[in-house]
Amino acid sequence: VEAHFSGGPLSGKHVLVTSGPTHEPIDPVRYIANRSSGAQGTALAAALRDLGARVTFVTGPADVPPPAGVTVVRVETAREMLAATQAALPADAAVMAAAVADWRVDNASGSKIKKDGSGKAPALEFAENPDILATVSKGASRPSLVVGFAAETDDVTAHAAAKRVRKGCDWIVANDVAPATGIMGGSENAVTLITDTGTEDWPRLSKEETARRLAGRIAEYLV
Ligand code: CTP
Ligand code: CA
Repeated sequence: VEAHFSGGPLSGKHVLVTSGPTHEPIDPVRYIANRSSGAQGTALAAALRDLGARVTFVTGPADVPPPAGVTVVRVETAREMLAATQAALPADAAVMAAAVADWRVDNASGSKIKKDGSGKAPALEFAENPDILATVSKGASRPSLVVGFAAETDDVTAHAAAKRVRKGCDWIVANDVAPATGIMGGSENAVTLITDTGTEDWPRLSKEETARRLAGRIAEYLV
């Protein structure tokens, strides 16, 4: 069931949002993951919905529930997230807010790994996961606007600007996740929006307000 205002600036537009972490199994009871509550992606999907968009929300196992009034596709791993994302195309815009695990466990076990009494830990082998943002940015059904996120420390804007070019997306929403900022895991965000024309530092705002501003910018772009 999709509820969207017929009069909103994004009515008739389809926007894809990825959100939350991915979980990469080690065995049936253990996994590796990035820290991500899913709060910023969820707020963004809600803000896009409120502007009238039809939203497909591809989410890993997040702490917060998905918004009402959007099409929710639940996934576990990065490879599942890529497949669900590609299946949701075409879209007018795609926003990749997910904290995708960069690596999966290549030698994941189908049965629970048991301690063998030797005191030695099992050797895990890792393989790099596909880059969903880069794949969509460089793919055949590329949305006209592709937006990535970049959680960085140190020289945040330079790292994020390089990432925008490397991945081939149009915009990057960068934030400083150094522990001193208190951003990571909190209810507020302070982002820098990097586009092809420049860099804007936004003030520290609630994740909902950050989402509303970003949704507004997406709507301006897509008119
Ligand atoms: N991303 C993605 N697929 C991946 C990794 C990242 O789609 N396998 C997306 C994220 O959703 C985000 C953007 O790419 O929108 C940047 O993620 P980030 O982890 O900062 O980029 P990486 O290229 O993985 O660089 P780093 O080595 O700094 O983690
Ligand atoms: Ca990464």
